[in-house]
Amino acid sequence: MKISQKTIDEIFGAAIIEEVISDFVDLKKRGANYKGLSPFNEEKTPSFVVSPSKEIWKDFSSGKGGNLISFLMEHEQFSYPESLLYLAKKYNITVEYIDINPDEKKKDNHRESTLIVMNYVKQIFADDLFGSNSKALDYLNNRGINNEIVKLFELGFCPKKQLKLVDQIKSAGYNEKYLHDTRIVNKNGTNRFLDRLIFPIHSISGQVVGFGARVLSDVLKSPKYLNSDTSEIYQKSKVLYGLNFSKKYIKKEDVCYLVEGYTDVIAMFQANIKNVVATCGTALTKEQVRLVKRFTNNIVIIFDSDSAGVSASLKAIDLFLEQDINPEVIQLPTGEDPASFCGQKSTETIKQFFLEHKTNFIEFKCSLNVSDASSDLIKHVKNIIYSISLIHDNIMQAIYIKKAAKKFSLQEEDIRKELNRLAKKTPLTSSRNLNDNTNKQIDFKKLKKNNLEEFRLIRLFINYGSSNIVLPDGTFQTISRFIINELDSDNIGFTTPIFDTLYQEIKKNITIIESQNNDFFLSHSNLIIVELASYIIADQPFLGNWSRKDIVVREEKDLLSQVAKESILRFKLKRVQSMRKNALEKLKNPNASVDNDLTTFTQLNQLEKKIQKELGRIC
Ligand code: UTP
Ligand code: MN
Repeated sequence: MKISQKTIDEIFGAAIIEEVISDFVDLKKRGANYKGLSPFNEEKTPSFVVSPSKEIWKDFSSGKGGNLISFLMEHEQFSYPESLLYLAKKYNITVEYIDINPDEKKKDNHRESTLIVMNYVKQIFADDLFGSNSKALDYLNNRGINNEIVKLFELGFCPKKQLKLVDQIKSAGYNEKYLHDTRIVNKNGTNRFLDRLIFPIHSISGQVVGFGARVLSDVLKSPKYLNSDTSEIYQKSKVLYGLNFSKKYIKKEDVCYLVEGYTDVIAMFQANIKNVVATCGTALTKEQVRLVKRFTNNIVIIFDSDSAGVSASLKAIDLFLEQDINPEVIQLPTGEDPASFCGQKSTETIKQFFLEHKTNFIEFKCSLNVSDASSDLIKHVKNIIYSISLIHDNIMQAIYIKKAAKKFSLQEEDIRKELNRLAKKTPLTSSRNLNDNTNKQIDFKKLKKNNLEEFRLIRLFINYGSSNIVLPDGTFQTISRFIINELDSDNIGFTTPIFDTLYQEIKKNITIIESQNNDFFLSHSNLIIVELASYIIADQPFLGNWSRKDIVVREEKDLLSQVAKESILRFKLKRVQSMRKNALEKLKNPNASVDNDLTTFTQLNQLEKKIQKELGRIC
């Protein structure tokens, strides 16, 4: 299931960038642009600029910039489709989906219906919590949780009378099977969550996908929490409780607190420490770690101060290190969990405690090892080095090697030797290496610097792909077609993989690109293309630079045609130069078939001179 191109076009047509951004940033008009305080950094002088004519934004304090989709992705941490859906809602655009196949459609309808029913049930529970004589609300208030937080987290209650949830769902016109699929009700139709406090579990975009249900009295023998079963919409291993609320705070603070339970997240939120998520009693998974990694590379683990909490922390540490996330640990006083610890304390007191008790993972592991026996010590040090070996990032690893060396009065050299030994034992291609490419931010600046000639042509495609230039015979041609023809005539393409991907897309969709300019790139389903296009559009206006070189200011179209021709020549020149260099290398080889290689070399030499001459005529 995909959002149709028609809908995407409609969204891009309707959305007005300054309107969308001003929902998040206070913008003031300054000449042709809008300015405001950066939403990404604390600042006193506004350095965040929106250009309505170019339909881009640029944040000079952080260097970020892009189109309105990239703004929503950056600021709200939406995915690409989530950003589109957000805009569709804002501009009242009916979203049309394209089905991949009928099965897919059925699956999607089922998913959609389950979500609707979950949302409906959530509302019933929430209404019951605030209903008359709610002992659940009293319970929460007695635990110090205020109503504002109760409403934010959409907490609910499932009273005994709720036995008839199935009837209620049916009379509202929904199919009861969704209650069974998610196991809110048992096979015999009775409600599993009776007389329990309800914690809705949200997906990262805020939809209710499951529930946790807590007994109101700890003396009962039944399990403290009952949770929704895994279903099509809820996979425990892929959800972190609270992330939909906390993601923007995690991004802003660039650190995430990881706790165990529902109430821990809620209590920390109430204490105004909002960059927090919970694993909800299950062991942390790789998928959850990747979720966190979308927002920060820094984690502070605060698990319950019991032995289960300690062993869960140890496992979590290694999982984080494997994904190059820096894990720190805070140990709470005996018998406490974050909920009990944070309740009744001021934000300052809590933060002060966190600051004083936060340790890196080496310190944490050391604090657990009280034995002085040398055999234990060796095991202990090896265990720490093993954790360090999981880190892929060289700099991060070097920092921890230094820390460990200092801690145990060892030579860094010795630790490295042990790391090498471990590296030989474990296969190099861990799953992480294979999967992680997509998460890595591409360094566009470096890409541009190292492949300037290729970058320039790509920039022309994106910024001016649909603009016309005049050919020597007086006819018009779009820049896109002009470049493609030129490269095809010499049978050359791009060597940088990301540029080549984009170039192939351009060739395939040339007629669309000729008619709609850079919307094609900005609404592309390949996120790397969207990112590259956003980067290029937000990059400095390059025609400005070119016109500065010109003494006589010419018509933009003339200038564009000159820029295009020059860029193509430089692109070819670079290629010829590298081919000539290769040919020269070959000639140096004693086994060279001199005649052939010499001819090639001479031809390339002449070609290079010819291009140089042509370039001289243009510039
Ligand atoms: P805890 O027992 O620490 O509960 O389990 P808690 O979150 O601190 O709850 P309060 O403060 O006593 O009310 C931590 C998490 O483990 C899961 C829940 O997600 C819980 O929040 N859990 C615990 C279960 O799923 N089932 C259980 O029976 C117990
Ligand atoms: Mn707890």
